[in-house]
Amino acid sequence: MPTSVTAHDASVDETDDRALASIFAAYTITATVWLLFATGVGILLAYKFGAPDFGRGAWLTFGRLRPIHTNATFYGWASIALVGMAYYVAARSSRTVLFSAKLAWIGLALFNVAALAGTIALDLGYNDGNLEYREWPWPIRLVFLAALVVTAWNLIGTVARRRSEDIYLSNWYTIGGVLWTCIVAVVAILPWYQYGLGQVSVSGYYMHNAVGMWFTPLALGIFYYALPKLLNRPIYSYALGVLAFWTNLVFYPIIGAHHFLFSPLPWWLQTTAIVFSVAMLVPVWGGSANFLLTMRGRMRDLTHSYPLMFILVGVIGYLVGSTQGTAEAFRSLQEVWHFTNFTIGHSHLTMYGFVTFAIWGGVYALLPLATGREPGRAGLMLHFWMAVVGSFIYVISLSIGGTIQGLNWKSGVPFIQSVVDMQAYHVWRGVGGSLMFLSHVAFAWNVWRMTYGRTAKAAPVAALPAAEAAA
Ligand code: HEM
Ligand code: HEM
Repeated sequence: MPTSVTAHDASVDETDDRALASIFAAYTITATVWLLFATGVGILLAYKFGAPDFGRGAWLTFGRLRPIHTNATFYGWASIALVGMAYYVAARSSRTVLFSAKLAWIGLALFNVAALAGTIALDLGYNDGNLEYREWPWPIRLVFLAALVVTAWNLIGTVARRRSEDIYLSNWYTIGGVLWTCIVAVVAILPWYQYGLGQVSVSGYYMHNAVGMWFTPLALGIFYYALPKLLNRPIYSYALGVLAFWTNLVFYPIIGAHHFLFSPLPWWLQTTAIVFSVAMLVPVWGGSANFLLTMRGRMRDLTHSYPLMFILVGVIGYLVGSTQGTAEAFRSLQEVWHFTNFTIGHSHLTMYGFVTFAIWGGVYALLPLATGREPGRAGLMLHFWMAVVGSFIYVISLSIGGTIQGLNWKSGVPFIQSVVDMQAYHVWRGVGGSLMFLSHVAFAWNVWRMTYGRTAKAAPVAALPAAEAAA
Protein backbone atom coordinates (compact mmCIF):
# COMPACT_ATOMS: atom_id res chain seq x y z
CA MET A 1 0.00 0.00 0.00
CA PRO A 2 1.38 3.43 -0.86
CA THR A 3 1.55 4.94 2.59
CA SER A 4 4.32 7.32 1.61
CA VAL A 5 4.69 10.14 -0.86
CA THR A 6 7.70 10.44 -3.08
CA ALA A 7 9.21 13.71 -4.12
CA HIS A 8 10.84 13.21 -7.41
CA ASP A 9 11.88 10.83 -10.12
CA ALA A 10 15.10 10.94 -12.07
CA SER A 11 13.26 10.75 -15.40
CA VAL A 12 11.58 14.08 -14.71
CA ASP A 13 14.06 16.62 -16.05
CA GLU A 14 14.72 20.23 -15.14
CA THR A 15 12.46 21.65 -17.88
CA ASP A 16 9.53 19.61 -16.55
CA ASP A 17 10.32 20.86 -13.06
CA ARG A 18 10.35 24.45 -14.22
CA ALA A 19 7.08 24.06 -16.16
CA LEU A 20 5.34 22.56 -13.13
CA ALA A 21 6.78 25.22 -10.81
CA SER A 22 5.59 28.04 -13.12
CA ILE A 23 2.08 26.58 -13.25
CA PHE A 24 1.91 26.13 -9.48
CA ALA A 25 3.26 29.68 -8.97
CA ALA A 26 0.86 31.25 -11.49
CA TYR A 27 -2.20 29.58 -9.92
CA THR A 28 -1.07 30.68 -6.46
CA ILE A 29 -0.38 34.27 -7.53
CA THR A 30 -3.71 34.82 -9.29
CA ALA A 31 -5.54 33.14 -6.38
CA THR A 32 -3.80 35.52 -3.98
CA VAL A 33 -4.93 38.54 -6.00
CA TRP A 34 -8.50 37.20 -5.70
CA LEU A 35 -8.07 36.68 -1.96
CA LEU A 36 -7.01 40.30 -1.50
CA PHE A 37 -9.85 41.61 -3.64
CA ALA A 38 -12.57 39.36 -2.19
CA THR A 39 -11.66 39.96 1.43
CA GLY A 40 -11.27 43.71 0.78
CA VAL A 41 -14.93 43.51 -0.26
CA GLY A 42 -15.60 41.38 2.88
CA ILE A 43 -14.22 44.18 5.08
CA LEU A 44 -16.45 46.71 3.34
CA LEU A 45 -19.45 44.43 3.94
CA ALA A 46 -18.53 44.04 7.61
CA TYR A 47 -18.28 47.83 8.09
CA LYS A 48 -21.63 48.31 6.43
CA PHE A 49 -23.28 46.63 9.42
CA GLY A 50 -22.14 49.58 11.55
CA ALA A 51 -22.36 52.27 8.88
CA PRO A 52 -24.93 51.16 6.29
CA ASP A 53 -24.61 54.39 4.29
CA PHE A 54 -20.86 53.99 3.86
CA GLY A 55 -20.16 53.51 0.14
CA ARG A 56 -23.24 54.85 -1.61
CA GLY A 57 -24.28 54.14 -5.19
CA ALA A 58 -25.70 50.99 -6.70
CA TRP A 59 -22.21 49.52 -7.26
CA LEU A 60 -21.43 49.50 -3.59
CA THR A 61 -24.70 48.23 -2.18
CA PHE A 62 -24.69 45.25 0.18
CA GLY A 63 -26.87 43.23 -2.22
CA ARG A 64 -24.28 43.44 -4.99
CA LEU A 65 -21.15 43.19 -2.87
CA ARG A 66 -22.18 40.13 -0.83
CA PRO A 67 -22.35 37.69 -3.76
CA ILE A 68 -19.20 39.29 -5.18
CA HIS A 69 -17.47 38.40 -1.90
CA THR A 70 -18.78 34.84 -1.67
CA ASN A 71 -18.22 33.93 -5.33
CA ALA A 72 -14.78 35.53 -5.48
CA THR A 73 -13.61 33.75 -2.31
CA PHE A 74 -15.04 30.43 -3.56
CA TYR A 75 -14.13 30.48 -7.22
CA GLY A 76 -11.36 33.06 -7.46
CA TRP A 77 -9.40 32.39 -4.29
CA ALA A 78 -10.01 28.85 -2.98
CA SER A 79 -10.71 27.05 -6.28
CA ILE A 80 -7.73 28.44 -8.19
CA ALA A 81 -5.32 27.94 -5.29
CA LEU A 82 -6.49 24.35 -4.71
CA VAL A 83 -6.28 23.38 -8.38
CA GLY A 84 -2.72 24.76 -8.68
CA MET A 85 -1.69 22.65 -5.72
CA ALA A 86 -3.58 19.58 -6.95
CA TYR A 87 -1.51 19.68 -10.16
CA TYR A 88 1.71 19.82 -8.20
CA VAL A 89 0.66 17.00 -5.88
CA ALA A 90 -0.62 14.82 -8.76
CA ALA A 91 2.65 15.08 -10.70
CA ARG A 92 4.97 14.71 -7.72
CA SER A 93 3.16 11.89 -5.94
CA SER A 94 2.83 9.99 -9.23
CA ARG A 95 6.54 10.65 -9.99
CA THR A 96 5.68 11.90 -13.43
CA VAL A 97 5.18 15.06 -15.45
CA LEU A 98 1.92 16.90 -16.00
CA PHE A 99 -0.26 15.33 -18.68
CA SER A 100 -0.50 18.72 -20.39
CA ALA A 101 1.04 22.00 -19.28
CA LYS A 102 -0.94 23.74 -22.01
CA LEU A 103 -4.25 22.50 -20.59
CA ALA A 104 -3.21 23.73 -17.16
CA TRP A 105 -2.63 27.23 -18.56
CA ILE A 106 -5.93 27.12 -20.47
CA GLY A 107 -7.71 26.07 -17.26
CA LEU A 108 -6.10 28.96 -15.37
CA ALA A 109 -7.26 31.42 -18.02
CA LEU A 110 -10.81 30.02 -17.94
CA PHE A 111 -11.02 30.15 -14.12
CA ASN A 112 -9.85 33.77 -14.14
CA VAL A 113 -12.08 34.86 -17.01
CA ALA A 114 -15.09 33.34 -15.23
CA ALA A 115 -14.24 35.00 -11.90
CA LEU A 116 -13.63 38.38 -13.54
CA ALA A 117 -16.73 38.28 -15.75
CA GLY A 118 -18.81 37.02 -12.81
CA THR A 119 -17.62 39.84 -10.56
CA ILE A 120 -18.28 42.52 -13.20
CA ALA A 121 -21.72 41.07 -14.01
CA LEU A 122 -22.73 41.01 -10.33
CA ASP A 123 -21.56 44.57 -9.78
CA LEU A 124 -23.56 45.71 -12.80
CA GLY A 125 -26.61 44.08 -11.27
CA TYR A 126 -26.75 40.95 -13.49
CA ASN A 127 -27.47 38.20 -11.02
CA ASP A 128 -29.03 34.77 -11.56
CA GLY A 129 -31.33 35.34 -8.62
CA ASN A 130 -31.54 33.92 -5.15
CA LEU A 131 -29.43 30.82 -5.80
CA GLU A 132 -26.61 31.00 -3.33
CA TYR A 133 -23.04 30.54 -4.64
CA ARG A 134 -24.35 30.36 -8.20
CA GLU A 135 -25.37 33.97 -8.67
CA TRP A 136 -23.14 34.45 -11.73
CA PRO A 137 -25.23 34.52 -14.93
CA TRP A 138 -25.33 31.00 -16.36
CA PRO A 139 -23.10 31.58 -19.45
CA ILE A 140 -20.32 32.59 -17.04
CA ARG A 141 -20.92 29.46 -14.98
CA LEU A 142 -20.47 27.50 -18.20
CA VAL A 143 -16.97 28.98 -18.52
CA PHE A 144 -16.22 27.83 -14.97
CA LEU A 145 -17.57 24.39 -15.84
CA ALA A 146 -15.24 24.28 -18.87
CA ALA A 147 -12.32 25.06 -16.54
CA LEU A 148 -13.40 22.18 -14.28
CA VAL A 149 -13.61 19.73 -17.17
CA VAL A 150 -10.15 20.74 -18.40
CA THR A 151 -8.79 20.29 -14.87
CA ALA A 152 -10.41 16.88 -14.41
CA TRP A 153 -9.02 15.68 -17.73
CA ASN A 154 -5.54 16.93 -16.96
CA LEU A 155 -5.43 15.51 -13.43
CA ILE A 156 -6.68 12.10 -14.53
CA GLY A 157 -4.20 12.10 -17.43
CA THR A 158 -1.36 12.91 -15.06
CA VAL A 159 -2.23 10.24 -12.50
CA ALA A 160 -2.76 7.70 -15.30
CA ARG A 161 0.96 8.12 -16.11
CA ARG A 162 2.04 7.29 -12.57
CA ARG A 163 5.03 5.05 -11.95
CA SER A 164 3.47 3.15 -9.06
CA GLU A 165 0.63 0.68 -9.23
CA ASP A 166 -1.46 2.39 -6.59
CA ILE A 167 -2.93 5.84 -6.68
CA TYR A 168 -1.71 7.96 -3.78
CA LEU A 169 -4.51 9.00 -1.36
CA SER A 170 -4.30 12.71 -2.21
CA ASN A 171 -5.15 11.94 -5.82
CA TRP A 172 -8.25 9.96 -4.81
CA TYR A 173 -9.47 13.08 -3.08
CA THR A 174 -8.54 15.62 -5.74
CA ILE A 175 -9.75 13.60 -8.75
CA GLY A 176 -12.89 12.59 -6.85
CA GLY A 177 -13.50 16.24 -5.99
CA VAL A 178 -13.13 17.52 -9.55
CA LEU A 179 -15.34 14.79 -11.01
CA TRP A 180 -18.08 15.24 -8.41
CA THR A 181 -18.03 18.97 -8.94
CA CYS A 182 -18.47 18.62 -12.71
CA ILE A 183 -21.67 16.67 -11.94
CA VAL A 184 -22.81 19.16 -9.30
CA ALA A 185 -22.17 22.10 -11.68
CA VAL A 186 -24.15 20.42 -14.49
CA VAL A 187 -27.08 19.67 -12.16
CA ALA A 188 -27.09 23.30 -11.07
CA ILE A 189 -27.16 24.62 -14.62
CA LEU A 190 -29.90 22.42 -16.14
CA PRO A 191 -33.05 24.57 -16.22
CA TRP A 192 -35.99 22.17 -16.28
CA TYR A 193 -36.47 21.43 -12.60
CA GLN A 194 -35.38 24.84 -11.36
CA TYR A 195 -38.72 26.13 -10.13
CA GLY A 196 -40.79 25.81 -6.98
CA LEU A 197 -39.66 23.15 -4.53
CA GLY A 198 -37.42 21.54 -7.16
CA GLN A 199 -35.35 24.69 -7.16
CA VAL A 200 -35.12 24.71 -3.36
CA SER A 201 -33.97 21.13 -3.37
CA VAL A 202 -31.35 21.72 -6.07
CA SER A 203 -30.20 24.81 -4.22
CA GLY A 204 -29.53 22.79 -1.07
CA TYR A 205 -27.82 20.10 -3.14
CA TYR A 206 -25.60 22.61 -4.93
CA MET A 207 -24.75 24.76 -1.92
CA HIS A 208 -23.64 21.94 0.28
CA ASN A 209 -21.88 19.96 -2.39
CA ALA A 210 -19.93 23.03 -3.47
CA VAL A 211 -18.35 22.99 -0.02
CA GLY A 212 -18.44 19.25 0.67
CA MET A 213 -17.53 17.72 -2.67
CA TRP A 214 -15.24 20.45 -3.98
CA PHE A 215 -13.37 22.41 -1.32
CA THR A 216 -13.37 19.65 1.30
CA PRO A 217 -11.78 16.82 -0.74
CA LEU A 218 -9.24 19.12 -2.39
CA ALA A 219 -8.20 20.56 0.97
CA LEU A 220 -8.00 17.06 2.52
CA GLY A 221 -5.85 16.00 -0.43
CA ILE A 222 -3.32 18.66 0.61
CA PHE A 223 -3.21 17.33 4.18
CA TYR A 224 -2.54 13.81 2.92
CA TYR A 225 0.40 15.00 0.84
CA ALA A 226 1.94 17.83 2.84
CA LEU A 227 1.80 16.22 6.30
CA PRO A 228 3.96 13.16 5.48
CA LYS A 229 6.33 15.41 3.59
CA LEU A 230 6.76 17.95 6.38
CA LEU A 231 7.03 15.33 9.12
CA ASN A 232 9.04 12.86 7.07
CA ARG A 233 6.82 9.99 8.18
CA PRO A 234 3.93 8.19 6.46
CA ILE A 235 0.31 9.03 7.07
CA TYR A 236 -0.98 7.19 10.16
CA SER A 237 -3.46 4.95 8.33
CA TYR A 238 -4.04 4.59 4.60
CA ALA A 239 -7.13 2.44 5.27
CA LEU A 240 -8.71 5.12 7.46
CA GLY A 241 -8.10 7.63 4.64
CA VAL A 242 -9.91 5.37 2.18
CA LEU A 243 -12.80 4.82 4.63
CA ALA A 244 -13.14 8.58 5.07
CA PHE A 245 -13.09 9.03 1.29
CA TRP A 246 -15.94 6.60 0.61
CA THR A 247 -18.10 7.62 3.54
CA ASN A 248 -17.72 11.26 2.50
CA LEU A 249 -18.84 10.27 -0.98
CA VAL A 250 -21.88 8.32 0.21
CA PHE A 251 -23.09 10.65 2.99
CA TYR A 252 -22.37 14.16 1.76
CA PRO A 253 -24.61 14.37 -1.32
CA ILE A 254 -27.66 13.48 0.77
CA ILE A 255 -27.44 16.25 3.37
CA GLY A 256 -28.21 19.40 1.33
CA ALA A 257 -31.79 19.61 2.61
CA HIS A 258 -30.51 20.49 6.11
CA HIS A 259 -30.27 24.05 4.75
CA PHE A 260 -34.05 24.09 4.41
CA LEU A 261 -35.38 22.54 7.60
CA PHE A 262 -38.93 23.63 8.42
CA SER A 263 -39.43 24.54 4.74
CA PRO A 264 -42.18 23.03 2.53
CA LEU A 265 -39.70 20.35 1.37
CA PRO A 266 -41.00 16.87 2.32
CA TRP A 267 -40.46 16.18 6.03
CA TRP A 268 -38.87 12.78 5.29
CA LEU A 269 -36.29 14.46 3.03
CA GLN A 270 -35.36 16.87 5.81
CA THR A 271 -35.11 14.00 8.31
CA THR A 272 -32.90 12.01 5.92
CA ALA A 273 -30.62 15.05 5.64
CA ILE A 274 -30.39 15.25 9.45
CA VAL A 275 -29.60 11.55 9.82
CA PHE A 276 -26.78 11.75 7.26
CA SER A 277 -25.50 14.98 8.80
CA VAL A 278 -24.88 12.86 11.91
CA ALA A 279 -23.34 10.10 9.78
CA MET A 280 -20.88 12.70 8.49
CA LEU A 281 -19.13 12.37 11.84
CA VAL A 282 -17.59 9.14 10.46
CA PRO A 283 -15.48 10.74 7.68
CA VAL A 284 -14.89 13.91 9.69
CA TRP A 285 -13.70 12.25 12.88
CA GLY A 286 -11.95 9.43 10.98
CA GLY A 287 -10.08 11.88 8.74
CA SER A 288 -9.19 14.27 11.56
CA ALA A 289 -7.96 11.41 13.76
CA ASN A 290 -5.76 10.24 10.90
CA PHE A 291 -4.11 13.66 10.61
CA LEU A 292 -3.75 14.21 14.34
CA LEU A 293 -2.28 10.72 14.85
CA THR A 294 0.19 11.41 12.05
CA MET A 295 1.34 14.47 14.01
CA ARG A 296 1.38 12.64 17.36
CA GLY A 297 4.61 13.00 19.35
CA ARG A 298 6.02 15.66 17.03
CA MET A 299 5.17 18.76 19.06
CA ARG A 300 8.68 20.16 18.63
CA ASP A 301 8.43 20.02 14.84
CA LEU A 302 5.01 21.60 15.03
CA THR A 303 6.11 24.60 17.05
CA HIS A 304 9.14 25.13 14.81
CA SER A 305 7.36 24.98 11.47
CA TYR A 306 4.80 27.53 10.30
CA PRO A 307 3.56 25.30 7.44
CA LEU A 308 2.78 22.61 10.03
CA MET A 309 1.07 25.13 12.29
CA PHE A 310 -1.12 26.32 9.42
CA ILE A 311 -2.04 22.69 8.72
CA LEU A 312 -2.76 21.98 12.38
CA VAL A 313 -5.17 24.94 12.52
CA GLY A 314 -6.74 23.68 9.28
CA VAL A 315 -7.28 20.20 10.75
CA ILE A 316 -8.82 21.67 13.91
CA GLY A 317 -11.01 23.94 11.74
CA TYR A 318 -12.21 20.87 9.82
CA LEU A 319 -12.93 18.87 12.97
CA VAL A 320 -14.61 21.61 14.99
CA GLY A 321 -16.41 23.30 12.05
CA SER A 322 -17.88 20.09 10.68
CA THR A 323 -18.89 18.79 14.11
CA GLN A 324 -20.57 22.14 14.70
CA GLY A 325 -22.34 21.61 11.35
CA THR A 326 -23.77 18.32 12.61
CA ALA A 327 -25.12 20.13 15.69
CA GLU A 328 -26.67 22.83 13.47
CA ALA A 329 -28.54 20.19 11.52
CA PHE A 330 -30.69 19.17 14.53
CA ARG A 331 -34.14 20.75 14.37
CA SER A 332 -34.03 21.85 18.01
CA LEU A 333 -30.79 23.81 17.49
CA GLN A 334 -31.57 25.09 14.04
CA GLU A 335 -34.72 26.62 15.52
CA VAL A 336 -32.37 29.01 17.30
CA TRP A 337 -29.51 29.42 14.83
CA HIS A 338 -31.11 29.42 11.37
CA PHE A 339 -31.00 32.84 9.63
CA THR A 340 -28.72 34.21 12.35
CA ASN A 341 -25.08 35.28 12.30
CA PHE A 342 -24.20 31.93 13.86
CA THR A 343 -24.32 30.43 10.35
CA ILE A 344 -21.93 33.12 9.07
CA GLY A 345 -19.60 32.08 11.90
CA HIS A 346 -19.87 28.44 10.76
CA SER A 347 -19.18 29.40 7.13
CA HIS A 348 -15.99 31.19 8.12
CA LEU A 349 -14.88 28.56 10.64
CA THR A 350 -15.03 26.02 7.80
CA MET A 351 -14.17 27.95 4.63
CA TYR A 352 -11.56 30.04 6.43
CA GLY A 353 -10.46 28.02 9.49
CA PHE A 354 -10.33 24.79 7.50
CA VAL A 355 -10.05 25.36 3.72
CA THR A 356 -8.08 28.62 3.68
CA PHE A 357 -5.65 27.48 6.38
CA ALA A 358 -5.17 24.18 4.52
CA ILE A 359 -4.28 26.11 1.36
CA TRP A 360 -1.80 28.29 3.25
CA GLY A 361 -0.17 25.26 4.89
CA GLY A 362 0.12 23.58 1.49
CA VAL A 363 1.50 26.66 -0.25
CA TYR A 364 4.14 27.22 2.44
CA ALA A 365 5.06 23.53 2.49
CA LEU A 366 5.22 22.97 -1.26
CA LEU A 367 5.78 26.19 -3.19
CA PRO A 368 9.34 26.67 -1.87
CA LEU A 369 10.11 23.09 -2.97
CA ALA A 370 8.88 23.93 -6.47
CA THR A 371 10.49 27.36 -6.91
CA GLY A 372 13.52 27.12 -4.64
CA ARG A 373 12.55 30.36 -2.87
CA GLU A 374 11.46 30.72 0.72
CA PRO A 375 9.46 33.36 2.58
CA GLY A 376 11.02 35.20 5.51
CA ARG A 377 10.23 34.08 9.05
CA ALA A 378 8.85 37.47 10.08
CA GLY A 379 6.39 37.41 7.17
CA LEU A 380 5.26 33.91 8.14
CA MET A 381 4.85 34.88 11.76
CA LEU A 382 2.80 37.99 10.93
CA HIS A 383 0.58 36.05 8.56
CA PHE A 384 -0.05 33.18 10.95
CA TRP A 385 -0.80 35.13 14.11
CA MET A 386 -2.94 37.83 12.51
CA ALA A 387 -4.97 35.19 10.66
CA VAL A 388 -5.42 32.99 13.75
CA VAL A 389 -6.31 35.80 16.15
CA GLY A 390 -8.47 37.60 13.55
CA SER A 391 -10.50 34.56 12.60
CA PHE A 392 -10.88 33.53 16.25
CA ILE A 393 -12.40 36.94 17.06
CA TYR A 394 -14.56 36.75 13.92
CA VAL A 395 -15.99 33.31 14.64
CA ILE A 396 -16.45 33.67 18.41
CA SER A 397 -18.16 37.07 18.17
CA LEU A 398 -20.62 35.84 15.53
CA SER A 399 -21.28 32.57 17.37
CA ILE A 400 -22.17 34.36 20.61
CA GLY A 401 -23.98 37.21 18.86
CA GLY A 402 -25.85 34.81 16.57
CA THR A 403 -27.08 32.75 19.52
CA ILE A 404 -28.34 35.87 21.30
CA GLN A 405 -30.00 36.96 18.05
CA GLY A 406 -31.80 33.62 17.68
CA LEU A 407 -32.92 33.54 21.32
CA ASN A 408 -34.26 37.08 20.94
CA TRP A 409 -36.34 36.03 17.94
CA LYS A 410 -37.66 32.98 19.73
CA SER A 411 -38.65 34.93 22.80
CA GLY A 412 -40.70 37.32 20.70
CA VAL A 413 -39.05 40.62 21.73
CA PRO A 414 -39.34 43.36 19.09
CA PHE A 415 -37.06 42.63 16.12
CA ILE A 416 -35.14 45.87 16.57
CA GLN A 417 -33.92 44.60 19.95
CA SER A 418 -32.01 41.80 18.19
CA VAL A 419 -30.38 44.40 15.92
CA VAL A 420 -29.31 46.51 18.89
CA ASP A 421 -27.99 43.44 20.74
CA MET A 422 -25.87 42.44 17.72
CA GLN A 423 -24.14 45.83 17.45
CA ALA A 424 -21.13 45.07 19.64
CA TYR A 425 -20.61 41.67 17.98
CA HIS A 426 -20.65 43.27 14.54
CA VAL A 427 -17.97 45.69 15.67
CA TRP A 428 -15.85 42.77 16.93
CA ARG A 429 -16.36 41.01 13.58
CA GLY A 430 -14.98 44.16 11.92
CA VAL A 431 -11.93 44.06 14.21
CA GLY A 432 -11.29 40.36 13.53
CA GLY A 433 -11.92 40.86 9.80
CA SER A 434 -9.40 43.71 9.65
CA LEU A 435 -6.72 41.50 11.21
CA MET A 436 -7.59 38.74 8.74
CA PHE A 437 -7.27 41.17 5.85
CA LEU A 438 -3.89 42.43 7.08
CA SER A 439 -2.72 38.82 7.32
CA HIS A 440 -3.61 38.42 3.63
CA VAL A 441 -1.32 41.33 2.78
CA ALA A 442 1.47 39.48 4.62
CA PHE A 443 0.57 36.31 2.68
CA ALA A 444 0.77 38.21 -0.62
CA TRP A 445 4.23 39.43 0.36
CA ASN A 446 5.28 35.88 1.23
CA VAL A 447 3.96 34.56 -2.09
CA TRP A 448 6.00 37.21 -3.84
CA ARG A 449 9.10 36.07 -1.93
CA MET A 450 8.41 32.44 -2.87
CA THR A 451 8.01 33.22 -6.57
CA TYR A 452 9.77 36.31 -7.86
CA GLY A 453 11.44 37.55 -4.68
CA ARG A 454 15.19 38.11 -4.63
CA THR A 455 15.98 35.59 -1.87
CA ALA A 456 16.56 32.07 -3.13
CA LYS A 457 17.46 29.95 -0.15
CA ALA A 458 15.64 26.67 -0.55
CA ALA A 459 16.87 24.11 -3.05
CA PRO A 460 14.32 23.19 -5.73
CA VAL A 461 12.73 19.83 -5.25
CA ALA A 462 14.78 18.26 -8.04
CA ALA A 463 17.86 18.78 -5.92
CA LEU A 464 16.33 17.20 -2.86
CA PRO A 465 16.47 13.45 -3.16
CA ALA A 466 16.16 13.14 0.60
CA ALA A 467 12.89 15.01 0.62
CA GLU A 468 11.05 11.73 0.28
CA ALA A 469 8.81 10.84 3.17
CA ALA A 470 9.86 7.63 4.87
CA ALA A 471 7.80 4.61 4.01
C1 HEM B 1 -11.06 39.53 5.81
C2 HEM B 1 -11.71 38.38 5.71
C3 HEM B 1 -13.20 38.29 5.55
C4 HEM B 1 -14.19 39.14 5.95
C5 HEM B 1 -14.05 40.46 6.69
C6 HEM B 1 -15.45 38.57 5.56
C7 HEM B 1 -16.68 39.16 5.77
C8 HEM B 1 -17.89 38.65 5.37
C9 HEM B 1 -19.18 39.29 5.53
C10 HEM B 1 -19.38 40.65 6.19
C11 HEM B 1 -20.12 38.48 5.03
C12 HEM B 1 -21.64 38.77 4.95
C13 HEM B 1 -22.31 38.25 6.18
C14 HEM B 1 -23.78 38.48 6.24
O1 HEM B 1 -24.48 38.44 5.21
O2 HEM B 1 -24.29 38.72 7.33
C15 HEM B 1 -19.47 37.29 4.55
C16 HEM B 1 -20.09 36.20 4.02
C17 HEM B 1 -19.44 35.07 3.59
N1 HEM B 1 -18.06 34.90 3.48
FE1 HEM B 1 -16.64 36.13 4.20
N2 HEM B 1 -15.21 37.36 4.94
C18 HEM B 1 -13.85 37.17 4.90
C19 HEM B 1 -13.19 36.09 4.35
C20 HEM B 1 -13.81 35.03 3.71
C21 HEM B 1 -13.13 33.94 3.06
C22 HEM B 1 -11.61 33.82 2.87
C23 HEM B 1 -14.11 33.08 2.64
C24 HEM B 1 -13.97 31.76 1.90
C25 HEM B 1 -12.85 31.16 1.61
C26 HEM B 1 -15.38 33.63 2.99
C27 HEM B 1 -16.61 33.05 2.74
C28 HEM B 1 -17.84 33.63 3.01
C29 HEM B 1 -19.10 32.94 2.84
C30 HEM B 1 -19.30 31.50 2.37
C31 HEM B 1 -20.10 33.84 3.20
C32 HEM B 1 -21.61 33.57 3.21
C33 HEM B 1 -21.96 33.04 4.58
C34 HEM B 1 -23.35 32.50 4.74
O3 HEM B 1 -24.27 32.87 4.00
O4 HEM B 1 -23.56 31.69 5.67
N3 HEM B 1 -15.17 34.82 3.64
N4 HEM B 1 -18.10 37.42 4.76
C1 HEM C 1 -19.52 17.68 7.36
C2 HEM C 1 -20.21 18.17 8.27
C3 HEM C 1 -21.03 19.43 8.12
C4 HEM C 1 -22.33 19.55 8.45
C5 HEM C 1 -23.23 18.46 8.98
C6 HEM C 1 -22.72 20.92 8.16
C7 HEM C 1 -23.99 21.44 8.40
C8 HEM C 1 -24.42 22.68 8.03
C9 HEM C 1 -25.76 23.20 8.24
C10 HEM C 1 -26.88 22.46 8.96
C11 HEM C 1 -25.83 24.42 7.69
C12 HEM C 1 -27.06 25.30 7.57
C13 HEM C 1 -27.21 26.21 8.70
C14 HEM C 1 -28.46 27.03 8.56
O1 HEM C 1 -28.81 27.48 7.46
O2 HEM C 1 -29.11 27.24 9.58
C15 HEM C 1 -24.52 24.71 7.13
C16 HEM C 1 -24.18 25.87 6.47
C17 HEM C 1 -22.97 26.05 5.82
N1 HEM C 1 -21.88 25.21 5.84
FE1 HEM C 1 -21.73 23.47 6.83
N2 HEM C 1 -21.66 21.60 7.67
C18 HEM C 1 -20.59 20.73 7.60
C19 HEM C 1 -19.34 21.00 7.13
C20 HEM C 1 -19.02 22.11 6.39
C21 HEM C 1 -17.75 22.31 5.72
C22 HEM C 1 -16.56 21.35 5.77
C23 HEM C 1 -17.84 23.50 5.05
C24 HEM C 1 -16.82 24.18 4.21
C25 HEM C 1 -15.83 23.58 3.60
C26 HEM C 1 -19.16 24.05 5.33
C27 HEM C 1 -19.64 25.25 4.84
C28 HEM C 1 -20.89 25.76 5.07
C29 HEM C 1 -21.36 27.02 4.53
C30 HEM C 1 -20.58 27.96 3.60
C31 HEM C 1 -22.67 27.20 4.99
C32 HEM C 1 -23.57 28.39 4.72
C33 HEM C 1 -24.51 28.05 3.65
C34 HEM C 1 -25.48 29.19 3.44
O3 HEM C 1 -25.08 30.18 2.85
O4 HEM C 1 -26.63 29.08 3.87
N3 HEM C 1 -19.83 23.18 6.14
N4 HEM C 1 -23.69 23.63 7.35
